[in-house]
Amino acid sequence: MQESQSYTRERGPAILAAKGVTVRVPLVAGNWKMNKTPSETEAFLTPFLPLVLQAKPEILLIPAFPSLDRAGRILRGTRIRLGAQDLHVEPRGAFTGAVSAEMLVDCGCHYVLVGHSERRHVFGEPDELVRRKLEAAFAGGLRPILCVGETIAERRAGKTESVLRIQLDAGLSGLSTRLLPDVVIAYEPVWAIGTGETATTEQAQDAAAWIRGWLHREVGSSAGEPIRILYGGSVKPDNAAELLALPDVDGALVGGASLDPKGFAQIVAGAPT
Ligand code: 13P
Repeated sequence: MQESQSYTRERGPAILAAKGVTVRVPLVAGNWKMNKTPSETEAFLTPFLPLVLQAKPEILLIPAFPSLDRAGRILRGTRIRLGAQDLHVEPRGAFTGAVSAEMLVDCGCHYVLVGHSERRHVFGEPDELVRRKLEAAFAGGLRPILCVGETIAERRAGKTESVLRIQLDAGLSGLSTRLLPDVVIAYEPVWAIGTGETATTEQAQDAAAWIRGWLHREVGSSAGEPIRILYGGSVKPDNAAELLALPDVDGALVGGASLDPKGFAQIVAGAPT
């Protein structure tokens, strides 16, 4: 856990603020993408829950839409949070195939991903839509996890920071300082997602520190300091602990390795306490 002297408000379970010291509780999230049916979700949870009973970090599971209700019922009363992979910007209406924040909350969700790299690059979501989804999440009572990250071409061209700047500007600039502390940022370099090629600890720390600097500059320390920054991209049981120990990394957003209960529990156990 990292500490700073600048933030004093109570922010629910994620942020513990006492005597002017901010403590960012590590968050370990599993994004299941388009994997696991509702029955498979239940089959995961049965062995997983006892494995993480004593775990210290905040744990978040992000199954596909059809599994949310089943997962929400099983997780009710546990300390494991539920999140969704996407939402629509409108609260209701004639939007065939879309899912609203209110529906997600009713399933038991506390969080929702916005701007995941697969939404940006496979489904073509622009920054402007990502921002509207982030606002729709807040309007519907969900905490948004804003995903940012550069492609390999952008990294090789030395554009990592300018890509992050554009995505952060679009996602967060001008957002109310009342809401900002409830944002989570996930730095997921596109080239590390699903490739087995994890960012080095230096690359992950550099990007997270740059994002922390952007927050201090652009939204101010008191709103920016409590914001948790996760690393995502080929996080596995054998590399999680060193990534989670980085000074500006407050957790992990795990894809493939979160599909196995034992492996994901090992990743959770690697978070600093
Ligand atoms: P992998 O862990 O499978 O690389 O996926 C990362 C990711 O996209 C999580 O959102």
